[in-house]
Amino acid sequence: MVFELTEEQLAVQDAAREFAQKELKPGVIERDSKMIYPAEQVRKMAELGFLGMMVAPKYGGGGMDSVSYALAMEEISKVDNSCSVIMSVNNSLVCWGIETYGTEEQKQKYLPKLATGEWIGSFCLSEPEAGSDATSQRTTAIDKGDHYLLNGTKNWITSGGTSNVHLVIAQTDVDKGHRGINVLIVETNWDGVEIGAKEDKLGIRSSDTHTIMYNDVKVPKENRIGEDGFGFKFAMKTLSGGRIGIASQALGIAGGAYELALAYSKEREAFGKPISKHQAIAFKLADMATEIEAAKLMVYRAAWLKDQHMDYDQAGSMAKLFASEVAMRHTIEAVQIHGGYGFVKEYHVERLMRDAKITQIYEGTSEVQRIVISRNILKGQLYVPIFGANFLEQA
Ligand code: CAA
Repeated sequence: MVFELTEEQLAVQDAAREFAQKELKPGVIERDSKMIYPAEQVRKMAELGFLGMMVAPKYGGGGMDSVSYALAMEEISKVDNSCSVIMSVNNSLVCWGIETYGTEEQKQKYLPKLATGEWIGSFCLSEPEAGSDATSQRTTAIDKGDHYLLNGTKNWITSGGTSNVHLVIAQTDVDKGHRGINVLIVETNWDGVEIGAKEDKLGIRSSDTHTIMYNDVKVPKENRIGEDGFGFKFAMKTLSGGRIGIASQALGIAGGAYELALAYSKEREAFGKPISKHQAIAFKLADMATEIEAAKLMVYRAAWLKDQHMDYDQAGSMAKLFASEVAMRHTIEAVQIHGGYGFVKEYHVERLMRDAKITQIYEGTSEVQRIVISRNILKGQLYVPIFGANFLEQA
């Protein structure tokens, strides 16, 4: 069992850390407070290759592995989760979905723009009445011969106000249930695409999250990804990888809050000594460090399984479930360690606490992750494959 990162992975981690601390930290409080979209910061992320990290170089991407992507997500999420969610959706949902399941023409047309950040992508699955129950799609894509006619409403769409390309999940044949769902590549300047209200959110406030309406949008048949009826499986498979990205984000949030709390506890004195020397605080730090370390192993292992082309659905769900709950728990503790200073914006930890909440909700709530994990367990998949035999199954 090898726990070392490669030189390339360490270099990516360093570059992402430096970028986050130098380029994202200044201004992050104001962007969050005033809901300012981080246009300049997204442009710099694109320049550094963070928007198409795993895309093959022949399509303009960095050709990196999922572990490198997780490391970069983690470092950026220690500072700015509006930037990291834009990065995550573009990389692991939109680019990965097109590269893995798209035709050669679709890859050549869309990936070079998306991977270099010239264009930004959105993933449009959720609807007002189809969140966790993702098969209940009301958006319709009616087959009109050479094109689909797309109608419906999507909500909670990350980058909804700025993206150029949407991957839209829609129902073509309602009688076929989830097997009648398709996924279509839609360009946002096409007639009938309407950008709705921008959400005023608890966290990740400078990312632009919108409702989107499709009104008789004509989508050419060649913009369907995969066979007719592949859309739901596409969404599930793509989200399995996306969940590793969000798990990395949660890990970064927890790690960022921990680093701030540790530094503060060494500086701040009470009762004649640094608060880190009081057991009440030292034990909090010990719990944070321990659980973050456990989350780290789960997240990196899920990414590694994906790189090995092994089954990562269960590992990704477990990593997201655990890392997001660690992020929530320990950002609250980081605020507590900061006392009154933790409650004001200047010290960053209250923002991380607000950002942590969404990692338990998007790309599948913690409850959805428990559905995925429990179903796998009941099918006999007790552990992820690299940890050897499933003794329960053999018993
Ligand atoms: N890979 C491939 N296929 C899969 C799959 C996977 N990981 N998971 C399920 N499927 C297939 C099943 O095999 C089944 O196909 P067959 O009937 O042909 O065998 C089909 O999909 C339906 O599966 P289920 O019966 O398990 O479906 P379900 O209705 O019980 O729902 C669910 C399962 C896990 C709850 C699913 O609906 C789900 O994941 N919901 C959450 C949706 C979600 O994560 N939304 C996030 C929105 S996107 C977002 O947040 C992005 C952003 O902007 C940040």
